[in-house]
Amino acid sequence: MCGILGYTGDRQASSILLAGLERLEYRGYDSAGIAILDNGNIKIAKNKGRLKVLEDRINAGEEVSGTCGIGHTRWATHGEPSDVNAHPLWSDDMAVVAVHNGIVENYREIRAMLAEHGYTFYSQTDTEAAVKLIDYHYKKEKTPLKAITQAIKEIDGSYCFVLLFRDFPGEVWGARKDLPLIAGQGKGESFLASDVSAILHDTRQVYYLDNMEIVQLKKGNVRFFDVEGYATHKEISEVTWDANAAEKGGFEHFMMKEIHEQARAVKDTFGAVYHSGKIDLTEKGLTDEAIRAVSQIYIIACGSAYHAGAVAQYVIEDLAKIPVRIEMASEFRYRDMPMDRNALAVIISQSGETADTLAAMRRAKENGIKTLAVVNVVGSTIAREADSVFYTMAGPEIAVATTKAYSAQLAACYAMAVKFAHVRGVIDDAECTRLIAEIQGLPEKIDEILDEKGSLEELAGRFVNARNAFYLGRNIDYAVAMEGSLKMKEISYLHSEAIAAGEMKHGPISLIERGMLVAGIMTQKGLYQKTASNMLEAKSRGGFLLVVSSRGCEYLKDDADFVFHVPETDEHFAASLAVIPLQLLGYYVAVARKLDVDKPRNLAKSVTVE
Ligand code: G6P
Repeated sequence: MCGILGYTGDRQASSILLAGLERLEYRGYDSAGIAILDNGNIKIAKNKGRLKVLEDRINAGEEVSGTCGIGHTRWATHGEPSDVNAHPLWSDDMAVVAVHNGIVENYREIRAMLAEHGYTFYSQTDTEAAVKLIDYHYKKEKTPLKAITQAIKEIDGSYCFVLLFRDFPGEVWGARKDLPLIAGQGKGESFLASDVSAILHDTRQVYYLDNMEIVQLKKGNVRFFDVEGYATHKEISEVTWDANAAEKGGFEHFMMKEIHEQARAVKDTFGAVYHSGKIDLTEKGLTDEAIRAVSQIYIIACGSAYHAGAVAQYVIEDLAKIPVRIEMASEFRYRDMPMDRNALAVIISQSGETADTLAAMRRAKENGIKTLAVVNVVGSTIAREADSVFYTMAGPEIAVATTKAYSAQLAACYAMAVKFAHVRGVIDDAECTRLIAEIQGLPEKIDEILDEKGSLEELAGRFVNARNAFYLGRNIDYAVAMEGSLKMKEISYLHSEAIAAGEMKHGPISLIERGMLVAGIMTQKGLYQKTASNMLEAKSRGGFLLVVSSRGCEYLKDDADFVFHVPETDEHFAASLAVIPLQLLGYYVAVARKLDVDKPRNLAKSVTVE
């Protein structure tokens, strides 16, 4: 999952590409490179390491002049991160140079075929096979369009290419299959990018490429073609996101900024479906009739989106009395399970590009099941392929560890739960109104928790050298424990596990050592006592007890080492509050360990490989 860019216009391409790549670094950052087409020559600068290394090497771009170019920031899939494997990659005579996101699945076969025609290979990448395949067709067909259309018919996998052809000055070419590519149109200049945030400072006029579509950029002129090479017509869209929303806005890290944007994300996401006192999901394909017809719900997602789905499973089941199954997309896509035709598949994804989630959604569709995507990135592949879309309104999320998108996903799921419960007659008008008011009260309570973040910063200092942690909870609290634990491990590298509290004694308890962090989440009144007992079992083995509970919960007040109370709310929605101190704790431990909070090692924000 890499970030790719293209530019042609009158300005120096290198500085535009470097600035855009900085905004795409969240997609991958193990190497970076640019190529500039100038006066019939293609100049390339690339290396292993962060973009900063490249920037310093080429003096912020000054050493690579020219007004037409392509750029790349990499998250390695084929071939280790190295100078050689960094993109761009080129054909031997430099006639074709490309950057690539995705995977060329049949690259071995392509290499073998090309080797028979005298091609040799210098990198371990799948990309080089694709570049040389395009070059092979280019040598025969003589035009970029014919070369690309021919090649993409022969390439298996999901991919997205941005290319320069040495003999076509001022032109940038692109093609996509299953991965995002956006074309931007400015005055006298045009852009290609894998994500709109990369070009938002330069233009808001964009086109979303369709699958197997090819794009040609000239200065201020963008043309599209289908896979047979015929010109196609596309509508331009105006992006309404605030460009400043993609900047740090005074916070030390994007993650902290995004933690503080959660109240707004929840408010806007719920507000988008709340009109004149009612939740209206008709635009999402959920008319009252459609809601009544749903026999069961599959929630399918990965990572934190899966954790949001795990909360939703409890909430929807309990409020609307519909059976709900939460499924990991990576498992679901390869399962052969009987599926109910009247089921609804709810696909949750921040990026809308996660490879496993996309594949799982396609599988649900193949089975004739209606799909509803809960997605943050407008125009993303999942959003476009789903039967209907519920956009979360979190805005661009930059930190790899998600916070505000997760919170927005919860808000979307709550809206569905309450609507389903009401339409199906499980709750009456008064209860519906009460629950809506509870959801609307969440943003203020989230901000209230953030006002107390100082105490968590102090607490984090204790765990700078910790090696293990447990997060315990039952029911919704277990789902929150999963997210809290993930936040801790992904950014602070402190090994942590979420455990359904009742399961601790079936093995994990043997790992508890003196001083080990054991966090207990307690927001579900009926389960206070049960979780408290499990926490005491941990304490008697030396565990350091952190309790995150709803105000008014008196359990463990004398036994816990640290108690953090969150404001009271209806228990169904308590995850939205309990998760905040857990996000903050993970953040502060990572900061205390002096780690790169926004770009944790080995991770990427958008996981477009299996
Ligand atoms: C990656 C990200 C996670 C995210 C997961 C699913 O692992 O680091 O934050 O939850 O992918 O991504 P999606 O875009 O589908 O929500």
